[in-house]
This record gives sequence, structure tokens and C-alpha cells, in this order.
Amino acid sequence: MKIIDLINKKKRSAELTKEEIEFFIDGFVKGQIPDYQASAFLMSIWFNGMNNKETSLLTNAMVSSGDTMDLSFIKGKTVDKHSTGGVGDKLSLTVSPIIASLGISLAKMSGRGLGHTGGTIDKLEAIEGLNTELTKEQFNKTIQETGMVIAGQTANLVPADKKLYALRDVTGTVDSIPLIASSIMSKKIASGANSIVLDVKVGSGAFMKTIDEARELASVMVSIGESLGRKTIAVLSNMDQPIGRYVGNRLEVLEAYELLSGEYEEDLYELTVEISKQLLISTGDFTEDQAVKAIEESLASGKALQTFKRFLEAQGGKVDSIFNEKHKFKIAVKSPRDGYISKIDSEEVGMASLMLGAGRENKDSVINHATGVEIHKKIGNKVSAGDTLFTLYTDTENINEISDRLLNATVINEERVEKTNSILEVVK
Ligand code: URA
Repeated sequence: MKIIDLINKKKRSAELTKEEIEFFIDGFVKGQIPDYQASAFLMSIWFNGMNNKETSLLTNAMVSSGDTMDLSFIKGKTVDKHSTGGVGDKLSLTVSPIIASLGISLAKMSGRGLGHTGGTIDKLEAIEGLNTELTKEQFNKTIQETGMVIAGQTANLVPADKKLYALRDVTGTVDSIPLIASSIMSKKIASGANSIVLDVKVGSGAFMKTIDEARELASVMVSIGESLGRKTIAVLSNMDQPIGRYVGNRLEVLEAYELLSGEYEEDLYELTVEISKQLLISTGDFTEDQAVKAIEESLASGKALQTFKRFLEAQGGKVDSIFNEKHKFKIAVKSPRDGYISKIDSEEVGMASLMLGAGRENKDSVINHATGVEIHKKIGNKVSAGDTLFTLYTDTENINEISDRLLNATVINEERVEKTNSILEVVK
């Protein structure tokens, strides 16, 4: 087999076979297929796509390129969640303790953020002492004792994705549905859970800008998961404004803690309940009504909060440090006029948070865990001139550019605006 023949085949939109897809992944990972030919192959996929069967074969070949997690030592069902990435997205921290408190295990391999905001690992590292670089023994012990674990990706999971993503990043081939779907799903399949819930974000600050694109990505990922024997459900959710009240690492952990204590922004609560509900349904052990009841009971009884604390302590974290404010200044950004908030551009809020140090400009940037943005008014809220729209938690007083950015990101209408729905659709 020759890679040039596969490039020509995909260039003419023909369907690739299992052997051809495996030949590409194996040869690329071993360095036998050079980057220039792999780039041409990826670009032919970018232009001509792949059908669901090819995408599933590609995903499986990627999974086979490295180790897979064996969670069979866990008694009961295991689930996993993934978000395609949103601003203020602290759902892994709110959902996992709820699920774990209901006797279902959630073992999560997470990443650091590259781009405007920190990833789940960055957020957790805002907690003093918390360790996310776990040995296999620590990982297994934590999940057995607390029902949940969140760790950095230490095992050699899907090396094909690391190498492919690096090449896609510099060849304009990231934004291809089969390539995104196989990249995400290969990591989820390799992580070993019985069922998977995907939170596909739509709008500003998200990979998918329109509902049609998001629906297509979701249905391809659901089809991959099901074809590889994992129950998979996707939730399409709205990113027309950042999620919840805070964007920034410690601030987001604090917000997760507050939600589990019963104090929350409506959109974060709705999303937390929906993702938790779909995770419970995905096990096959809950109807929709039973799932909602169990979630509400876990929150109201404090079981989810206790699980969160136990999990943080099991990974070495000092829970009280969530409340330690280490930023130097708190500066209000005020509304220039009266009206109703109709949009808060999430990507711009993410960029403002990056400028405060809470995100990374490049992979070597050192993240500031203390800084971030508090969002006081959300879509549909009435504001008067002089009301505080945002509070900046910052180490510098030089914030003019950041506050301008936030004000430009906020659209204020004269007429009343309805609150938008956080959940757009569920794809099964
Ligand atoms: N997230 C991933 O893990 N892979 C992609 O290709 C895009 C987003």
C-alpha cells in the first residue's frame, strides 16, 4: 500500500477501507509517512469529508495507537463527559460529584486549557496542594474511595491524536467534522467508560458557531460511540453568553462549590442538571424523571457537596483554599447606559480573562489562578447606567483595554429581551 494512492483516492471522494485507514495511522505514528504527505491526506479529508463508517474506523485506529484505560476493577457503571469547550465552563466540577454521589463512577482524564481560558486541570490546580499528576495506584484509589477522579493525561492515550492535532493546527485542517469527531471520540473511547455524554457548545467562543454544524458534529460523535459499543448522548448548549457567574480558575472552582451548596446562576444550574441527567440516563438504570429526582435529592441533601470535598481531599487539595482571595485588586466595570442585556460575547470575555492572566497565550505561558472576571448581569437582565456589569479580579490596575473589551462585548438593547435557553437540543 502507498500513501500517495490513499491521497488520490480521498481526493476523488472515494470511500477508504479499514486497512487503508489503519495503514495511514500506523505509518504516520511510526514516522514512516512524512508530514507533507500526511498534510495532503488531511487536506483531502478536509475537502471531501468522511462518511460515518470511515470516521468510526479512523477513531478505532487512533485508539489502537496507544494505551487504553481498563476500568473493569470498578464495581457498577462508569460514565464520562466531554465538553467541546466553552467560556466559564466548570461543568466537570459540578456534574462529577453529583454523579459520584449517586453510586456511578466518573473517571476523567482532562487537559490544561490552551487559548482563552484554563482547562479543568488548571482550575483544580487553583486549590492548594491538589495533585492532578496521579500514579495509576493513586488514580484507582481515588475513584474507588470517592466515585470520581480528575487527572491530567499521563498514560500514553491516543498518541496518534497528539501527532495529528499538531499537524492539523499548522495546516488549516482543524475545522473538519470527521477530524474533530475522531479526535474527541478516540480519547473518550480510550478512557474506558461504559457511556459518554458530550456537551457540544454552539456560538461565540465555541468551535461550532452554528446549530447546524453543532448538530452534525454531535450526530457523527454519537454514531462513532455507538458503533464502538459505548452508549453516547450529545447535548447541544448555548454559548451566547459565558456560563454562570465567573470566568477564571479559582473563581470557577468557587462557583462550582457554591452551586453544590445551593447558590447558583440559573444557566449553570440548568446545564448541570441536564448533563447529569443524560449521564444517569446513559447508564440505562434511570428514567428521565428518576434521574432528575436523584439529582435534586443529591444537591438538597448535601451529598454532592460532601463528595466534592472528599474528592478534593483525596487528591491532596485543601478545601478551604478555595476561599483564599489572592488577586491584588477588584475593579468594577460599569454600564454606560440603561437597557436590557441581549448578548455577552463569550469569546471576548474569554480574551479579557486571558489578558488578566487566567488563560494561556501559548503553551509555555504561566497561568494566574487568582484572576478572572465576575459577570453580574446576564442576557435578559435590566441594567441602569452606572450598574456594575463586571468585576475584574486582577493583579494590575492597568485594565482600560480589558474593560473596553468587555463593554464592547456586551450588547444592551432598549427593548426588553427574553432570557435565552441554555439547552438547545439533545442528540441520541
Ligand atoms: N477538541 C479535540 O480534542 N480535538 C479536536 O480536533 C477539536 C477539539
